[in-house]
Amino acid sequence: MLPHPTLAAHYATPEAKPEFVNRLFDNGAKHYDSVVDWGFLHSGASYRRRALKQHGLRAADHLLDVAAGTGLVAVEAAKILGTADNITCLDPSAGMLAVARSKLAARFVLGRAEQMPLADNSFDFLTMGYALRHVTSLEETFREFHRVLKPGGKLLILEVTKPAGRIPEFCFRLYFGRIYPFLTQLFTRSRDARDMMRYYWETMDTCMPPASVLEALGSVGFAKVQRTAVLGLFSEYTAEKAKLATGSILP
Ligand SMILES: C[S@@+](CC[C@H](N)C(=O)[O-])C[C@H]1O[C@@H](n2cnc3c(N)ncnc32)[C@H](O)[C@@H]1O
Repeated sequence: MLPHPTLAAHYATPEAKPEFVNRLFDNGAKHYDSVVDWGFLHSGASYRRRALKQHGLRAADHLLDVAAGTGLVAVEAAKILGTADNITCLDPSAGMLAVARSKLAARFVLGRAEQMPLADNSFDFLTMGYALRHVTSLEETFREFHRVLKPGGKLLILEVTKPAGRIPEFCFRLYFGRIYPFLTQLFTRSRDARDMMRYYWETMDTCMPPASVLEALGSVGFAKVQRTAVLGLFSEYTAEKAKLATGSILP
């Protein structure tokens, strides 16, 4: 399943999406941190850290941060873990990862969520922050998440979700569709940054509903699949790879 339909104004076919998205983030990378910081009223770092703690990231966990971008999730995770030694950051944008590398002594891997060059059963905790809309297939992505997690390993996906109800939806549309891209260009004087935030909006506007994400997670074998909605706007999807039962035949 695609997370949203083909956005023909930006790329012609689903196959062309990864190259388009990669260029967008490579070009916008140097503005990303400042734009999301003021755009979310300076709440991003504490929100990410609270979500990681609440959903069970523990010291000594080996963490994989998929779509790590400039490292905003990984930096908060390192505060909880007390080190970045056990953190792997994966992203297809060399531009975004270059910013992350300037902040964090983690392991960095250039790659896409749908096909990760990482070993089976190797992580205790897997995060993906605000990037689910950018993959080409939910099932392929979630199958990969399931493969690289250890039995008992935990998954946390953070997303922004269009709120229900006419007035909340109107306010959401006005802010993310109009005000945020306009202010982004005003403050950064960068069309690349503005285009990145315009696309951010278009993917949120056309994104599949939370029920489809939950269904896709369950379809690849995840257990304890849940969505926690925060302020009707932020979605925290959590799931676990089932533990091995006594008597399981190991590969
Ligand atoms: C909005 S940024 C999110 C960055 C960071 N996780 C955060 O919390 O702010 C989206 C990131 O997803 C990455 N991305 C795009 N397509 C991807 C894919 N197929 N697999 C993994 N990451 C992808 C982009 O390069 C970009 O760094």
